[in-house]
Order: sequence, then structure tokens, then C-alpha cells
Amino acid sequence: MSSSAVEFARQNHPRFLNELKDLLRIPSVSTLPEHAEDCRRAADMVARELHRIGMENVRLIETGGHPLVYADWLHAAGKPTVLVYGHYDVQPPDPLDEWVSPPFEPQERDGNLYARGAVDDKGQVWAQVKALESLLAADGRLPLNVRVLLEGEEEVGGEGIADFVASKPPELKADFALVSDTELFAPGLPTLCVGLRGMIYTEIEVRGAKTDLHSGMYGGAAPNPFVALAQIVARLKDENGHILIPGIYDDVVPPSEAELAAWRSLPFDEEHYRATEVGSRTLVGEPGFSVLERTWARPTLDVHGMPGGFIGAGAKTVIPARAMAKVSMRLVPDMTPAKAFAQYKSYVEQIVPQGVEVEVRLIHSGDACLVPVDNPYIQAATHALHEVWGKDTVFIRSGGSIPIVGDFARHLGVPSVMMGFGLPDDNLHAPNEKFNLTNFELGIRSLIRFLEEAGR
Ligand code: BES
Ligand code: MN
Ligand code: MN
Repeated sequence: MSSSAVEFARQNHPRFLNELKDLLRIPSVSTLPEHAEDCRRAADMVARELHRIGMENVRLIETGGHPLVYADWLHAAGKPTVLVYGHYDVQPPDPLDEWVSPPFEPQERDGNLYARGAVDDKGQVWAQVKALESLLAADGRLPLNVRVLLEGEEEVGGEGIADFVASKPPELKADFALVSDTELFAPGLPTLCVGLRGMIYTEIEVRGAKTDLHSGMYGGAAPNPFVALAQIVARLKDENGHILIPGIYDDVVPPSEAELAAWRSLPFDEEHYRATEVGSRTLVGEPGFSVLERTWARPTLDVHGMPGGFIGAGAKTVIPARAMAKVSMRLVPDMTPAKAFAQYKSYVEQIVPQGVEVEVRLIHSGDACLVPVDNPYIQAATHALHEVWGKDTVFIRSGGSIPIVGDFARHLGVPSVMMGFGLPDDNLHAPNEKFNLTNFELGIRSLIRFLEEAGR
């Protein structure tokens, strides 16, 4: 069954796409202070559009960081209320020289739109806004009550929205959340994400001598913080990818047999994944667990960078006074960030080599989550997706994190429907991020039909 809103979206699609390009031209990189104004411009642009299409009470909500965008439309008496969530901030675009076209100059190529934020998450936010516009324009009303809450700090841990949600404001009273920040398992395969990993993001700082030293004059007697740091890092995991922090696996809940069976029937080709998505010689990780289990249902520990010391061209003979490593762990149900960080910190402090001091800092954290699927909104979603994509929906988890989803459940008692339209090879956080144009169009249609079904 098609609807007049779907028809409106079809006719206005070229305009929708041009507007998305305008949003993508704003470099709203949340982690870089010099882009704070751009984050606000992106928030403003989305807020203005929400107002233009007929949403009410549109406003920016200030936080300690980048603002939230709020809007609502609450005239569907007797119908449920949806909380529509996405984020307008993006990851930094570097390394710039690996982009085929510049990250903030969106370009269409081979059926895709290339730009930083194309799929994560501006393209998906725009799909949500355009679904709402289509419904309001075609029907003069929405099929259910809608609240929109967008954030600009998802990529840096989402502290502002977490505080706002924890305060349980009346603006967030809703029956379910619609989160569009995930992906399809494979092209053309309608997908709902039902689980996310949590995370702790940390820094380990090692200090040795009181100042940088000549490595010839002092080498052999002065401690080297980089060597000490390498020794610490080397003891965090064994060669099988097993994390060596005592007790870290204690709270890991394995997926049920039924869930594992469903994962085994997904169209996953490990060799294709290795060769085309990862592009490494072999895959690594814990023996006895499939790749999907390793990325969806097992904790990880990764090193993101080791800043400090001499990293310029050429050679400098120095023993640095300080060294740092940025280390994160992905967490799975029922691990908690507080306990995992405490276990990690105390282990690192125990294995510090002689002669150096260590400081372990938590940068940000978020909970893992599993969302319930036995509710009418999931049913409405699979119904709508079947209509648009002509296939049964698969339920997957994701190895990524969207910290606020756990908070919606914990603080608001609101279950999330995670309906997103990215693809596994969309290069999220990497050079040449893209959004498949068919997915943008069918995504808007899916969201329209989902909201219609949820309001029936
Ligand atoms: N949209 C992603 C998370 C994601 C990616 C979900 C792929 C499902 C499939 C989100 O924007 C993201 O990147 N989150 C960060 C969160 C972190 C900085 C707290 C992540 O996972 O690294
Ligand atoms: Mn995202
Ligand atoms: Mn992201």
C-alpha cells in the first residue's frame, strides 16, 4: 500500500537531495573546538527546517557542549508518541588526501553521495525530517505524536544529551524511540538493529624523567616512557585477542542459542568481509567465536594512537619525558562502564614497569544495550519494511555504540526501534564516507510507512 506521503516524497526527491547537500557542506565536527560554530550552524539549519515543515515548539536546548535540537507535534490524540533521534555532528575528516572529492563538498558518484556525515548521521537525520515533511505536507497532520531530539555530540560521547535525558524532562515523554543511525546487514536487506556495544574511552599517560633528555647522555640510565607504555599495552591482550584484565569477562552474557542460530543464517561471507571491507591478510580475534560474535557480542580492547615524543620527519635523539596511549574498550551486556574501567585501571596500575608513573583517565563512556523486540512498534517496522523492500526483516546487533539508546531505556523506559539505512561499506569515520542514494530514497519511504503503521 502506498500513501500520499510516499507520493509527495517521490515527487520532491531531487529537492530533498539538494537540501541534504547543503547540510553536508557544514563541517560540524564535534570533537574540534574550532568547529563549534559550525556545529551550531548545522543545528540551526535542521531547526529552521523542522519549523518550516510545520513542527512546533522548535528550539535549541543548550548543553555544556553543542546544542540539542528539539521539536514536537502532539495533535494525534489517542495515538502513541515517538521520540525521533539522530545526530548532526560528524567525525573529523582526516586523512584528507585519501578523499576522492573533498569531505565537505558533497559529490554524487556511481549511485552514492560522498561526504563526511553522508550516512553518519546527517543523511539519516535528513531522511527522518523529510519523512515528517512528506506526512505533514500530504496529510496536513502526522499519524502519531512526534517529538524530535537531535544531538551534536554523539561522536564525542554524548554527555549533553545524557544529562538532559537523565533529568527526565516532560518533553521526552514517549512510547518508543526511532533511531536512524545504523545500517542494513546487506544491500537490499531490510534490517533492524537490536543491540549495540557500549564503550569506555581512556588515556594512559606514562611519565618518566622530569624533562626530555639527550638519549646518548642519559640512555641506559633514564626510563623511557614509550618503552614502558609499549610494555603495558602488550600486556592488555594476548595473541588470540583475549583481554588479560582480571575479571573483565565476568559479566559477559552470551547470546541465546536462538540468536546465534539467526546470525548463522545471515548472508555473511567471511572471505568477502576480510578482502573487501577489512582488506587485511587475515582476520584476528578470539578462537571459538564467529566474526559476528566477535564484533557484536564480545568485548574488545583497541589502541587508537600513541601521541607524544618525536614524530616529525627525520631523526631526533631524545628520551621523551612523557608518553600517552588512547585506548578504548567496547563493552557488551551486562558489562558496565564503571566496573570495566575500575578493573582496567587497577590492572594497568599493577603492571607499570619500574621507573615511570602512570595515570589512567576516562574520557567518556556509554552502556551497551539490547532492545526488546516483543512490542507493536517492532511489528509495525517489519511490516513497513516488507512493503518497501519486499523482504522479511533481519534482526542484527552492531559492534558500534550509540550511548543514548541505553539511556532512553534506563531513564525514560522507552524502547528503541533502530531503523537505519547505511551499508557495511559506507566508510563511516573513514575517508570517502558515502550514503547510497537508493537507500536514502527507500529510507525516507520506509520511515514514512513505519510512522503510518505505528499510528494505525
Ligand atoms: N552511528 C555510529 C554507531 C554505529 C555504527 C551503529 C555502525 C551501528 C552501525 C555512531 O555515530 C558512532 O560512531 N558512535 C561512536 C560512539 C562513541 C564515540 C561513543 C562509536 O561507536 O565509536
Ligand atoms: Mn552515528
Ligand atoms: Mn559515528
